[in-house]
Amino acid sequence: MGKVKIGIIGTGSISNMHMAGYTRLKNVEVVAACDISEERVKEFAKTYNIPNTFTDYNEMLKMTEIEAVSVTAWNNIHAPASIAALNAGKHVLCEKPLALNAAQAGEMVEAAKKSGKILMVGFCRRFGDNTVALKNIIDNGDLGNIYYAKAGCLRRWGNPGGWFSDKQRSGGGPVIDLGVHMIDLIRYLSGKPKVVSVTASAFHHMGMKPEVKGIQKYNSADYSEYNDVEDCAASLIKFDNGMTLFFETSWVQNRKEDRLYLELFGDKAGAKMEPEFELYENKYDYLRDSKPLLDPNGSSFEHNFIQEIKHFISCIADGEECLNPAEDGLELMKIIDAIYKSAETGHEVIIN
Ligand SMILES: NC(=O)c1ccc[n+]([C@@H]2O[C@H](COP(=O)([O-])OP(=O)(O)OC[C@H]3O[C@@H](n4cnc5c(N)ncnc54)[C@H](O)[C@@H]3O)[C@@H](O)[C@H]2O)c1
Repeated sequence: MGKVKIGIIGTGSISNMHMAGYTRLKNVEVVAACDISEERVKEFAKTYNIPNTFTDYNEMLKMTEIEAVSVTAWNNIHAPASIAALNAGKHVLCEKPLALNAAQAGEMVEAAKKSGKILMVGFCRRFGDNTVALKNIIDNGDLGNIYYAKAGCLRRWGNPGGWFSDKQRSGGGPVIDLGVHMIDLIRYLSGKPKVVSVTASAFHHMGMKPEVKGIQKYNSADYSEYNDVEDCAASLIKFDNGMTLFFETSWVQNRKEDRLYLELFGDKAGAKMEPEFELYENKYDYLRDSKPLLDPNGSSFEHNFIQEIKHFISCIADGEECLNPAEDGLELMKIIDAIYKSAETGHEVIIN
């Protein structure tokens, strides 16, 4: 069999992580790259030795040899580029969030069904060793019935600016950027329940504060200080399996330090996956904490991407079942839409 030929749409920072995956696979060749910035796509092509460059993805999609694409552009490009690629007969790995909202995500799912091609959503954290280990523990019934979960991804001062803080291009702030990973992990680990209701608040009190000194800041590639998205948000999300999730996130908040946490509470045991992996249970009338030994590099950012890309190619080349189908991205967009709607209206949003 020949190599799987790939095109990249969007050659900013995260496309390098996709390349970390593709370049490790012997049965893959990245043959084209596209970015609206000609300078950036040329530089990218030079770094990775990619023979064809484009500034319009519709032109790139005319290359019949391309079998699959990575969509690694701004969030507002995910739906139009993925749909165009699917209609051109290409498989698609689309970065998270799947789209700006559930309506767009629904159109993407439909386009995938019509084309018969794979539309995979980039929930890369599902491929971390910690997620794989905890999912195995949960699937074996060790936690029992999971009725409550808590997850948070909180930054003290981390609004990247540029397209990230421009709602038209991003769809929102930390909820849609960081929240998709955390809420997806909880859903994925607990058996993909469907959302039934959401109550949320989002806050817009802090802004970018570019004048703050003395800290290291991550700025987006095309940095600007335009900012019309939330600084932080908190939400209570209920699912059809009876589980309730408390979720909070921030890009900017007056807090001591950044914090990442993810906890699941079952009637047989509880589990913490972040910031470290621990299990809590009652064994022979004593409370017991335990800790599986995991490869310290097995859940790194790069590792997760390498595994994700490997899986995408296995789906194409070996017919493996896609672990991250677009339907999961759509379910997440329903939750994100409901968080923003509840925050805006001040009322609970019921989803059927
Ligand atoms: N899975 C993860 O953990 C993770 C991490 C970071 C970013 N992301 C996602 O990856 C995507 C890109 O983020 P980034 O940090 O690389 O941003 P970035 O700004 O560094 O890169 C985005 C690139 O897309 C290009 N672009 C915009 N419109 C385009 C179009 N019509 N055609 C082709 N290229 C276009 C921009 O010029 C830019 O070079 C976002 O959707 C983001 O949410 C995912």
